[in-house]
Amino acid sequence: MKMKSKVKKNDVEFGNWMRQFYNKKAKNISEKGYEYARWFSTPKKRIQYKFTIKSLIYHLRDIKFKKCLEVGCGPGTWTKLLLYKYPNASFTSLDISKEMISQFKQNINEKKKVKTIVNNFLDYNFKNEKFDFIFCSRAIEYIPNKSAVIEKFNNLLENGGKGIIISSPPHPKILAMKKFIGKKANIQHIKRISVKNIGFLLKKNGFTKIKFYPILFSDFFLVPRKFFFRTLYRRRWGILSKMFASGYIVKFEKPNEKY
Ligand SMILES: C[S@@+](CC[C@H](N)C(=O)[O-])C[C@H]1O[C@@H](n2cnc3c(N)ncnc32)[C@H](O)[C@@H]1O
Repeated sequence: MKMKSKVKKNDVEFGNWMRQFYNKKAKNISEKGYEYARWFSTPKKRIQYKFTIKSLIYHLRDIKFKKCLEVGCGPGTWTKLLLYKYPNASFTSLDISKEMISQFKQNINEKKKVKTIVNNFLDYNFKNEKFDFIFCSRAIEYIPNKSAVIEKFNNLLENGGKGIIISSPPHPKILAMKKFIGKKANIQHIKRISVKNIGFLLKKNGFTKIKFYPILFSDFFLVPRKFFFRTLYRRRWGILSKMFASGYIVKFEKPNEKY
């Protein structure tokens, strides 16, 4: 009997699949590149881009750093903002996809300040290098072993260092509906982690000042997403975010050691 092909749960195999997925997607999605296709090709996407920029500017207002690690940097869409806001900082930007890093290099001018790495985050050996800020936007949902990711963030952050993760919560109802109508869920979208579970992992690893906020929204009947965004993006994640937000941002800090 022929076995159905199935992506193995194994992290390395999933990473290899993900590498191929993003190499292909980034190359073929548009001749103008992944960033254009994802953020600028339709009015809705341009609105989501504006939401993210506005949220990031707001959430970065109390963060200072000199050395940033960006995990799953893609084509460098948010790296440009970080470079602009932190002109004296240095950056290490890592992505599993060499095509993404190639587009990143085309997008980023300040080459001297940015070191790029093509590797699976969990496999990469940073030796003893430490950072005072970790930024990870829309990438943790593509790495199955969240517990290992958060533990590695803890090992890589200096005491007093801060982090920001942007991600999307799982949508069990949409997945159930897809199953009901006989459609397969996209493999790349089944590894999402909820606000509750990521909060648990951050706490378990000793992080403090863990704060969640909504970041992206969808239209809801006659209520446009702009309304939800304006009303909620500066407020902590709560029942309304749970109902209407399609993405969250979490800020956290590694405490200074007590003597
Ligand atoms: C949706 S894109 C996000 C890109 C960018 N951070 C942004 O917010 O626009 C997800 C990125 O995560 C990268 N990625 C997925 N799994 C990874 C892993 N295990 N290690 C490093 N990067 C990974 C992908 O190659 C891709 O560039």
